[in-house]
Amino acid sequence: MPLTKSEIQARNVLKSMKPYSPGKPIWEVQQELGLEHVVKLASNENPLGPSPKALEAINELLVHIHRYPDAQAVDLRETIAGRYGLASEQIIITNGGDELITLVSETFIEAGDEIIVPGPSFSEYVFGGQLMGAVIRTVALTEDYQYDVSAILEAVSERTKILYLCSPNNPTGTILRKSALTELLDALPPYVLVMLDSAYSHFVTEDDYSDGIEFVKAGYPVIVLQTFSKVYGLAGIRVGFGVASPAIIKEVLQVKEPFNVNVLAQAAAKAAILDDDHVRKSSLLVQEERLRMYQGFRELDLAYTPSMSNFILVELGEDAEQRYNELMRQGVIVRYGAAWGLPHHVRISIGTPEENQILLHALRQSIVTADR
Ligand SMILES: Cc1ncc(COP(=O)(O)O)c(C=O)c1O
Repeated sequence: MPLTKSEIQARNVLKSMKPYSPGKPIWEVQQELGLEHVVKLASNENPLGPSPKALEAINELLVHIHRYPDAQAVDLRETIAGRYGLASEQIIITNGGDELITLVSETFIEAGDEIIVPGPSFSEYVFGGQLMGAVIRTVALTEDYQYDVSAILEAVSERTKILYLCSPNNPTGTILRKSALTELLDALPPYVLVMLDSAYSHFVTEDDYSDGIEFVKAGYPVIVLQTFSKVYGLAGIRVGFGVASPAIIKEVLQVKEPFNVNVLAQAAAKAAILDDDHVRKSSLLVQEERLRMYQGFRELDLAYTPSMSNFILVELGEDAEQRYNELMRQGVIVRYGAAWGLPHHVRISIGTPEENQILLHALRQSIVTADR
């Protein structure tokens, strides 16, 4: 007989976990608010769309999707290895960068181990840690959202397993300079694995920066997270990769599902990483539009954090939530900052010039509406 109340008990740890809250999809806002045109600047996607070469690769492979994908993703790993001057044993292909975080958590964290998460930052690090019963040590960024290297080092204990560094950091757009990263890596005990999440590395123009791969090559216990969801424009097909020593990669492979990355995603990613033209256009668009958006924010008297990424953290003040909702009513989706403990802020992804103009116009309107 079906029970009215389930007797099936989930793990206790799930009670204290918050589900990931994604940016609202366009269709939902269209339906809820009866809008035809909606601009989404909420998930740091590529506004130019996918690499055309990736689309071609997908089309060619469509007739083969009755076959399982290559469990080792050999072709893609070799292509990435060639691009970065790595050995393919130093690479793991994952179902988006998100999966890499979960796999690394499953591989290295015993219940009661500690992870260090400077914040505010990308929520999946805490999610992975909580799932495995880790103790989460959060270390606040400085007031201007810079990494505080000495505070991070003070948080290290004998039980520290993983230190997460997100550079450029989501949602602040700030980076950990290469000089500070070197200092930090040299000071850490050798049993701490550093996950350097450089998902947004292609948008950085600062010279004193590293996406982390050179530190893997130099033998540091670092695992770099990269994704095809940002500059390559493949967020919907879910593919990313990790780079570390062959020994670390071998351990992580033990918890990977055999067919974690589908046939189309593997082929699309290979084509996209070889499509220099699309990568150049996409990163250039962000660099140019970033400056234009700064100008727009200054004209509106809004404080923002200078960003090395494809999004900008903007301060809207006390009535930020109201303005966020007003933007939505005008058909512009951005991300409200409360989930990061930033209730006076929104994070705005950089779109096409037209989308950014619409955003700036809507922001102006929201200020007028809030002031009424
Ligand atoms: C900092 C950071 N890391 C990793 C990811 C994961 O990206 P994906 O799972 O789409 O590859 C994201 C996505 O927004 C991100 O912001």
